[in-house]
Amino acid sequence: MRNIFNAAVLTIIALAAPGALAQQAVPSADAAIAAAFAAAPADWKDRLTPDQTMKVCSEHKNHPPAKEAEEIQKRAQAAIEYPADGKFLGDWKKGESLAQSGYGLRFSDYPPTRQNGGNCYACHQLAARELSFGTIGPSLLNYGKLRDFKESEVKALYERIYNSQAVLPCSNMPRFGANKILTIDQIKDIVALLMSPDSPVNK
Ligand code: HEC
Repeated sequence: MRNIFNAAVLTIIALAAPGALAQQAVPSADAAIAAAFAAAPADWKDRLTPDQTMKVCSEHKNHPPAKEAEEIQKRAQAAIEYPADGKFLGDWKKGESLAQSGYGLRFSDYPPTRQNGGNCYACHQLAARELSFGTIGPSLLNYGKLRDFKESEVKALYERIYNSQAVLPCSNMPRFGANKILTIDQIKDIVALLMSPDSPVNK
């Protein structure tokens, strides 16, 4: 009975003062996140502070006005680094292991002992034979085949993975190249996974 009463009182408080509760939650969440990444290297710790793009996206709940959306996109596009050899297709087999690997940037990954993964399967379906995948992002099954393996699509995909904000402002996808989660060569391997006719994504 007492528990029910307490729950009812808490519900009333929560309904009456959601703003006050939310305000209290923010500093403790920030502190908890900072504490969880205490062992992170100094050059990565900057990522605990939202950058300009994240600030604008948070402020507008991921729907910024057109002018600000355009600024995000332009800024992201201008900072894309392209492969020195001008080639966008790497090794799809390496790309498949990167897509499978969720290693890297977690609070338990410091100091790092191996390369970061792309964790693509956490959010996307890719190869048909892999039955375990998340659905936050759209299915990427037959990605290259559906686009006729076009060269322009290969380049567009590199840019999307390098920095998704260059294509879709306030995208929910990690900015793999821009945030140095993956190297340029690793991004090429992932592009190959989606864009090679012989990759399991297109079978
Ligand atoms: C945290 C979840 C998440 C991860 C991890 C993730 N993505 Fe995404 N991705 C998304 C979401 C969500 C979208 C669509 C909307 C958006 O960008 O917010 C998307 C969109 C895409 C698109 C565009 C699809 C289309 O139909 O135009 C491609 C291509 C893509 N992701 C590839 C990848 C690859 C390759 C990886 C791994 C290196 C990856 N994603 C990792 C969430 C993720």
